[in-house]
Amino acid sequence: MNGQIAQPETTLSRFHTWLAQSLVNNNEFFAYFEPFIRLAMPAWSTVGVRSRVMKVHSETGDVYSLVIRPGRRWKNFSAGQHVQISAELNGTLYTRTFSISTSPDYFRKTGLIELSIRSKPDGRVTPMLKEHFAKGGVCTLSDAGGDFLLPEGNEPLLLIAGGSGITPFRSMMNQLSSNSLRDVHLLFYIRNSSNALFRQELDRIAELHPNLKVTFINTEAEGQVCEEHLLRYCPDVADRIAMVCGPTPMIQGTRNLLSELGLPADQIRFEYFGAAPIEMEMTGEKSFVRFKTSGIATTTTPDEQMSLLDLAEKQGLTPQHGCRIGVCYQCVCTKESGVVFNTRTGQYSDTGKEDIQLCISVAASDLELNI
Ligand code: FES
Repeated sequence: MNGQIAQPETTLSRFHTWLAQSLVNNNEFFAYFEPFIRLAMPAWSTVGVRSRVMKVHSETGDVYSLVIRPGRRWKNFSAGQHVQISAELNGTLYTRTFSISTSPDYFRKTGLIELSIRSKPDGRVTPMLKEHFAKGGVCTLSDAGGDFLLPEGNEPLLLIAGGSGITPFRSMMNQLSSNSLRDVHLLFYIRNSSNALFRQELDRIAELHPNLKVTFINTEAEGQVCEEHLLRYCPDVADRIAMVCGPTPMIQGTRNLLSELGLPADQIRFEYFGAAPIEMEMTGEKSFVRFKTSGIATTTTPDEQMSLLDLAEKQGLTPQHGCRIGVCYQCVCTKESGVVFNTRTGQYSDTGKEDIQLCISVAASDLELNI
């Protein structure tokens, strides 16, 4: 998800956070008291909108959809945006970020949204969410965010999806089918014909709307995105705005191909499904990481490419966090000294004191962190 939005921070808000952290070990006073208040009022929340999961239904393969009725305070969204869902699972509060797979028009008509989620067999949270909400339940939703949106205007579009990367495009295709004559071609890369998510729905949209074309490409038979595919299935590719969503290697490869086919950078939009891990150049040197508040120290090497959030958790620490992909800013912590590498921007930090996001930072030198 490349829609990273800088959070403006004032001296006053820094003081508020510092005071809250000092007194209640939480960035927000109200968030600290929230669990107690919820005992009396389960639908109340300070950090999002308490919402109801109505049901869970299975999609193709290991993907399921949570059907959610957002609470009244939840604002609307645009096709392609994502939300953070928080839920208490086995006594621990987890927050994860998912694209909304249904359209704003559907929300307007029904008051419902869907989050379509791949249940990772080795994942901690995605299988638990499915089980936890099997009979419905209450969750907290953030406002929708992200800038992977349908471009304004009427220029033709080429949408390229890989696997679960179809979810924001499902929202867009449904939205376009209800109010647009825009020329759109969706290329959907699937492993084989038995694991095409939303196939019937997408086929039906294409059947009813000649301006919305859908091509399924079976990667087992035809391979991954390549120049030959792009030119064969979409000969006017260079005249379209291209939008790409899928696994990181697919996005990186497709962006290069589109550039080679003559699309300028501003004609290529992309959404990483999960964090965009830019790898740090390895030097092989060991870094000493000291967690100053807890008095714990450890080492890491560049070839581990371990986020500082993972490193802290490995030491038994429990830093505040949410999405783990650099979107929610809940994991911001003060680095007292040392250099970190940001895996979303590919930038190295300065050596001095500054706030960093633990989930997307890797140690690039000896470090001291305020945890
Ligand atoms: S956990 Fe969300 S930005 Fe780090």
